[in-house]
Amino acid sequence: MEQKLLLMLDSRESLIAEICHYLIDGVGKRVRPLFVLLSYRACGGLDERLDDAIDAAIAIELIHSATLLHDDIIDGGTMRRGKPSVLARYGAAASLVAGDFLFCRAFELCGRFEERLVRIAAHACISLTEGEVMEGRMRHNAAARIEDYLEIITRKTASLFAAGARVAADLAGAAPATVGALEAVGLALGRSFQMMDDVLDVSGSEERIGKPIGSDLRTGVLSLPLVLGMHELPELRNFFANGGHGGAAAIESALRMVRHPSILERARAMAAEQAALARHHLGELAPSIYRDSLGLLLDEQRDRAT
Ligand code: IPE
Ligand code: IPE
Ligand code: MG
Ligand code: MG
Repeated sequence: MEQKLLLMLDSRESLIAEICHYLIDGVGKRVRPLFVLLSYRACGGLDERLDDAIDAAIAIELIHSATLLHDDIIDGGTMRRGKPSVLARYGAAASLVAGDFLFCRAFELCGRFEERLVRIAAHACISLTEGEVMEGRMRHNAAARIEDYLEIITRKTASLFAAGARVAADLAGAAPATVGALEAVGLALGRSFQMMDDVLDVSGSEERIGKPIGSDLRTGVLSLPLVLGMHELPELRNFFANGGHGGAAAIESALRMVRHPSILERARAMAAEQAALARHHLGELAPSIYRDSLGLLLDEQRDRAT
């Protein structure tokens, strides 16, 4: 998977290849391709279509990488994967075209699959684009509710995990009920993953997450600690509604508020609830070492900020 992924980054334009290697080569956790490959095996996938499953795993990482490039343009993200972001190093125009290039590479790789599988991948891309736009619409909106938050993360993050799961199960020749169960695993894992990303944005360390702490607060994103905290703390709600004005001091004070143990505990509990839901659906698959590994993946990501 890793070797072929790197081959997909080459281009006749050296700037594109340089950016794609800078973003992808040797960095990134590869959670999504791992999830796709384990899902394929957990659904009984044989060696016969393993190459296709590997291509699906590569495509999902390419799509994910493209969204990171575009997300950093939207959020003004300066650090990514422990170093200056592509935006900071190469600028917005180059980030934009490199993102488009990676999306197209993903479809180049999987366009030969059955039409229904290509459609699943396309719909995930549509959903994550709409998720980013909905997130923008909810910026600084103090009336936003937890339901809005759940819809944003389902669209922008969980949709890609769910699509990866469906494609992997389908390639493995799984029965429709199993495909459905694995899709439910992907959705819940994706939600849990984004919830923990939001917790780490306020409680992690820059060194550990490879991105600046407090980015969501600075950019007015409706993150989980914020949506939980602002309904209790009028000061936090005002900070969010006022567009985060007030400079570094206001951000520091907002950070202190969302770091309150009761808020972080509730946020972690919600992520754990989604992880438990994912585990429940995992129980619908036949027992195997691959199913166990998927369980470990769930635990590992649920516990990454505790
Ligand atoms: C970051 O994803 C974006 C989210 C959807 C939370 P990852 O945390 O998987 O990023 P990398 O690939 O490891 O850098
Ligand atoms: C991920 O959400 C959105 C994408 C689908 C790329 P974030 O905005 O939380 O991602 P990070 O925190 O910048 O990695
Ligand atoms: Mg971001
Ligand atoms: Mg984040």
